[in-house]
Amino acid sequence: MSIQINYKNSATKKTSANLILFADENFDIIGLKKYILKHEFSYISDLLKTNDLKKNLLVFEINSKKKIIIVSIKKDYKESDVENLGAELYGRICNDKKIEYIINSDLIKSKLENFLGHLLHGVKLKSYEFNKYKTKKELTSITINIFGKKNKPSTHDQLKFKALEEGTFFTRDLVSEPGNVLHPDEYAKRLNSLKKIGLKIKIYDEKKLKKLGMNALLGVGQGSIKGSYLVTIEWKGAKNNSKPLAFVGKGVCFDTGGYSLKPAKFMEDMTYDMAGSATVAGLMKNLALRKAKINVIGVVGLVENMVSGNAQRPGDIVKSYSGKTIEILNTDAEGRLVLADALTFTEKEFQPKIIVDLATLTGAIIVSLGSEYAGLFSNNDKLSKQLLDAGEKVEEKLWRMPLHKNFDKLINSKNADMQNINYVGGAGSTTAAQFLQRFILNKTPWAHLDIAGMAFSKYGGALNSGGATGYGVRLLNQLIEDNYE
Ligand code: BES
Ligand code: MN
Ligand code: ZN
Repeated sequence: MSIQINYKNSATKKTSANLILFADENFDIIGLKKYILKHEFSYISDLLKTNDLKKNLLVFEINSKKKIIIVSIKKDYKESDVENLGAELYGRICNDKKIEYIINSDLIKSKLENFLGHLLHGVKLKSYEFNKYKTKKELTSITINIFGKKNKPSTHDQLKFKALEEGTFFTRDLVSEPGNVLHPDEYAKRLNSLKKIGLKIKIYDEKKLKKLGMNALLGVGQGSIKGSYLVTIEWKGAKNNSKPLAFVGKGVCFDTGGYSLKPAKFMEDMTYDMAGSATVAGLMKNLALRKAKINVIGVVGLVENMVSGNAQRPGDIVKSYSGKTIEILNTDAEGRLVLADALTFTEKEFQPKIIVDLATLTGAIIVSLGSEYAGLFSNNDKLSKQLLDAGEKVEEKLWRMPLHKNFDKLINSKNADMQNINYVGGAGSTTAAQFLQRFILNKTPWAHLDIAGMAFSKYGGALNSGGATGYGVRLLNQLIEDNYE
């Protein structure tokens, strides 16, 4: 569904178009008299006597052609509440035949800064759908005309919301694409096209990766007829040469499990195993579009974990970019192998202030936290607090999970420096994180976000209608805005 938003300078008149009006906590509509016809006012007043005033909004069908929606502005609304309200509003208008709405912004009385901006942001985020492979498309679009002089978001704020929407939609598009379309070759190309918005893109192909010694990453991709890549996405928005923030993402375009093959039921979802990298890409796109005043580096490892005569075997031993050797006991624990090389490379090459990695790393995190929280693992309390706070603010929540040297021991190997799974069993998400931590060599403040339960939603959430959620783009944007910009 496409949403067209227009700002008009004139005031609203009484009109036959659908209306979105605003009232206080208790749906006091006396102030709305000016904007609606007399009989509409008495009709609504009558119905209000029997309506549940605890609701956020009420929809009145005036006749078959006209709806009036009254949105109640509750006193304690936070930004995220207003975004959720926008999503709810979208739910009430998306099935309409007549699709022109008028919002009167003069009626918005809220202490919250940018109420209207957040409301429309919620409408937009919820309206996303991935329908490019449907041959019969319903061609619908909703026009929302905003009248009134007050509460209009500034051009700067409009740009910020739009950048965040486009960044999030870029992530959702990438995550939604099937494995036959978005394989590593195609993915690298799509990232390369971010050049046109001012991002610096560097693509390391297999030949270069071999030279660099990234054998952990290469081993995962070696069974695929497609290439394996490490791509760096650079945004230099600060005036000085200050150290960048770094975001690293797992980009397994499809995860069959390799020879440690996944059962069909678990394999069918594995087109979204590149969501961590897509979040990094969407974040970078957002930062470039809004010209963030900061230096940020995104690094993604792009591979396909396939089965073939050339694929990696359980028991193989590889030497990673860090120099440490890894015994691969399970070819399905592949994300950590990709990230291992990407993390060491990021730390060495860019000496960033912080590193945050994102990955659909373990099924175990879904057992622990479901689709409510992503798992947060970190060597740094300050960074953890910043992330937890940002997550609460935008309602992309995180829950901190433990790291401990006793967990670390569980991945020691008899034959190599470490093994890629813990043979004792249990704490699967933590031992995966311990594995990653071994590749942070210079004690850089680091956080790992296991987003396996968050990247894709079967039933839809507050700000998405099901499918790819774009989780993490808004979270990391908030982290940057609140702490580093
Ligand atoms: N990509 C999976 C994790 C995953 C599972 C993501 C479900 C999203 C939904 C990952 O590569 C994987 O296979 N992990 C294994 C690790 C195990 C072999 C130690 C797992 O979680 O089972
Ligand atoms: Mn796997
Ligand atoms: Zn995987």
